[in-house]
Amino acid sequence: APEPEAPALSAPGRLTPVVTDLWDVEDSWTLAAYREHGGYEGLARAKTLSPDELVALVKDSGLRGRGGAGFPAGLKWSFLPPADGGPRYLVVNADESEPGTCKDIPTILSNPQALVEGIAITSRAIGCDHAFVYLRGEVPHVYRRLLHAVREATEAGLLDTGFGLDGDQPLRITAHAGAGAYICGEETALLDSLEGRRGHPRLKPPFPAVAGLYARPTVVNNVETIAQVPAILARGVQWYASMGTERSKGHGIFSLSGHVSRPGQFEAPFGITMRELIDLAGGIRPGHRLKFWVPGGSSTPIFGPEELDVPLDYESVAGAGSMLGTRALQVFDETVSVVRVVARWTEFYQHESCGKCTPCREGTYWMRQIMARLEQGRGLPGDVDKLEDIASNIAGRSFCALGDAAATPVLSGIARFRSEFEAGCTTPARELFPYAASALV
Ligand code: NAI
Ligand code: SF4
Repeated sequence: APEPEAPALSAPGRLTPVVTDLWDVEDSWTLAAYREHGGYEGLARAKTLSPDELVALVKDSGLRGRGGAGFPAGLKWSFLPPADGGPRYLVVNADESEPGTCKDIPTILSNPQALVEGIAITSRAIGCDHAFVYLRGEVPHVYRRLLHAVREATEAGLLDTGFGLDGDQPLRITAHAGAGAYICGEETALLDSLEGRRGHPRLKPPFPAVAGLYARPTVVNNVETIAQVPAILARGVQWYASMGTERSKGHGIFSLSGHVSRPGQFEAPFGITMRELIDLAGGIRPGHRLKFWVPGGSSTPIFGPEELDVPLDYESVAGAGSMLGTRALQVFDETVSVVRVVARWTEFYQHESCGKCTPCREGTYWMRQIMARLEQGRGLPGDVDKLEDIASNIAGRSFCALGDAAATPVLSGIARFRSEFEAGCTTPARELFPYAASALV
């Protein structure tokens, strides 16, 4: 099948709405609205290609995993071992939980058919006839919308044939609601939970691509990754790869929250800067100035106004000392106490630590206690050094990424705002930043 001609982008300026294109359309979640806007053209093209051609196409597009780590999607699919006659699975990680991250749930609410079509194309590419979507249990309305979308696609016959190892099986999609644990967003804990066990991370390797769900080869991808696949098929690799930067190709959803005038999701090419995104979000709220921000949720090191012009792609953000993560851009103005924010995040990580390994289980508990003291202005001499020491002993010494994530805000907060942490030994954050008491609690 020849590559389609790249269509012009419909949005002015720097925005590239594709997954978010339908969000403002009436009944955007229905199959009818999706088809009216070109939905399922990608799957039609996918059915003219062999699984190997599909994997090669996604590899060529440069699509990288949108769950935070940015691992090349086509490469991950190509890691599945050769078929041995047994099942292979696709598991979509919809357990969006990173503080500040709010792109997957709006996608399922507003454009669930893009996810269903993406699941169908990916399943065809990897020879799967049973795919799963693991969703947060706290959002039953999102779960219902997903079930509705799967039912509509199934009843319309779109999933009837073209899947499985021999490429002519029907596709079954199971949506599963978890019980609301952050650790179940970690792919192997998610698989444990899906199998009916308590969600605990597994040792890697083997990676899920080799031994995943029920110990079978499994591709685990984030909602946004899979929801981007249909447009790549329908509009072509050239179109997709023409956006973004050399190594971070394409576009993604940037979620701005906090002290901007118009918080929300902005779908834009990689390489856009925070300055541009803040402009698109109406600027910092009137009368205030930016104090600090994080590029990819609370797990990513803090940036300040000096980093506003760093291109938001995986390499540039890493080069500037942070991580692009889930593109959950949280913005804080001068009314906010860094100590208070880091204390909230530390409470979150302590609460969500699964307890499997000692550095994270014990360390997050100790950090939470010290952060609470600092926030109340009752810190002890040496507390800031002790906090740094504990965080340094969690980072790189924990079983999974949650430990590193818990240490990151503490270490980067102290590195950038040490004097505020030191002040916490004598002055409560709520006295230093009285507005923050009402804004953040
Ligand atoms: P990772 O870098 O260990 O793995 C990324 C993906 O590539 C995984 O699917 C892994 O199985 C696969 N992979 C890596 N090497 C492989 C190999 N040699 N063979 C086969 N597959 C391989 O990152 P991880 O731990 O999966 O994710 C960490 C990220 O998750 C963080 O950067 C953070 O931003 C993000 N995160 C996202 C959250 C959310 O709500 N979306 C919540 C918490 C963290
Ligand atoms: Fe569990 Fe934390 Fe250890 Fe991860 S780092 S296994 S969440 S205790």
